[in-house]
Amino acid sequence: MKLNHCSPYLDVLNSSNQDVVSKAISAGVGGNYKKVLELLHGNVSSDATFLRGLSSLKLGDHSKAKTEFEILKGQPDAHFLIPAFVDHLNGTKSESEKMYGGSAFSDHFAVASTRNLFRDMYQAVDNTLSSFTPDGDTFTLMDVGIGTGVQVDRVIKWIPKAWPQVKAVKVIAIDPSPSLIEKAKIQLERTMKESPLDVSVTFIESLAQNVSEERLREALEGNALDVVNACASIHHMPQSDKLILLKKLKNLAPKILVVTDADSDHESTLADLSFELVANATSFYSTVLQYLLSEPASKEEEDHLRAFCFFDARNVLLETGKSRIEYHTTAQNWVHYLSSVGFRLLPPRNEWINGLTPGRAQLGKDFIHTAVSERPINFQLVATGRTE
Ligand SMILES: C[S@@+](CC[C@H](N)C(=O)[O-])C[C@H]1O[C@@H](n2cnc3c(N)ncnc32)[C@H](O)[C@@H]1O
Repeated sequence: MKLNHCSPYLDVLNSSNQDVVSKAISAGVGGNYKKVLELLHGNVSSDATFLRGLSSLKLGDHSKAKTEFEILKGQPDAHFLIPAFVDHLNGTKSESEKMYGGSAFSDHFAVASTRNLFRDMYQAVDNTLSSFTPDGDTFTLMDVGIGTGVQVDRVIKWIPKAWPQVKAVKVIAIDPSPSLIEKAKIQLERTMKESPLDVSVTFIESLAQNVSEERLREALEGNALDVVNACASIHHMPQSDKLILLKKLKNLAPKILVVTDADSDHESTLADLSFELVANATSFYSTVLQYLLSEPASKEEEDHLRAFCFFDARNVLLETGKSRIEYHTTAQNWVHYLSSVGFRLLPPRNEWINGLTPGRAQLGKDFIHTAVSERPINFQLVATGRTE
């Protein structure tokens, strides 16, 4: 069984009372979901029921999966994923849109991006960027995964005060989602009208790792690149693509690259239904949701936030190949990736977002909870690299 960076998990897995569950997880890691179901047959713990539900989904048996999730839904402390899976299987909430093409996910994210978790993250980016001073009077920013544009918008708004010498801002914004690009255009056009700066934005609609270095250079139009900013976006690619992209970005010689992302691990254990993946995903997304809902939300906002977290958690738990788009990795790995492509790392700024401690992974009353409670989840300004 492949289990990386997870000694607490090994302890739990090795304990004799988890024998059946750990065998089932091994079978899941091997892709043998029928064996998972067989081993967990009759096992009544909520973790076993959850794994049976996921295995059934993997096998395409939606009706069996629904039965399992219905059992858990009846429990008073059912995890947020459970009613979401039931709704999903009943077809009452459609998540069947294409990964980046549809508008439902972008609507969910648009709500999330105005909330505390993202505002805190944006503040961390503002603090880092504003401690850097561009050389000339034109500031050139390449943004990887611009999303709704709210974060870049903040930067454009504080520039006149922080850097009075800057008169023009050139943004190159990359994002694969047409509906998010549409939202970013509306946001930035409004700001461009009001800004005292001469702002221009070039959108590139693509997965960032697929854009050639030539195309990126062309978009720079001969300007030196000041900053590459990647806020909560590079985690959307597997390790090999992260490295391909970071290498390309390094070749463009930005003065500084700022990667802001969650310190979690949905990347190293890509095996389906591995213990670590299930534990991390259930704990991580329940923690994110708990944080997002820790300030008042209307019913409509809450629905979007739940759908936002479910969309991502479901992706980690069930998707493989090209449809897998969530690959958070550890802060340690980010540092390693940046240095391995040649960035000189700046001292960590310790921009921890306070208060995002592990939520109670209610689903995992058994082993999942035991394991995840030993592992804090933090959002952090993970790495800042400088070109020599
Ligand atoms: C969580 S949002 C963050 C958006 C924005 N940076 C912010 O902080 O508000 C992730 C963004 O990354 C984009 N994205 C997903 N996969 C990507 C990829 N392979 N290359 C570039 N952007 C990607 C998504 O479309 C989405 O806009």
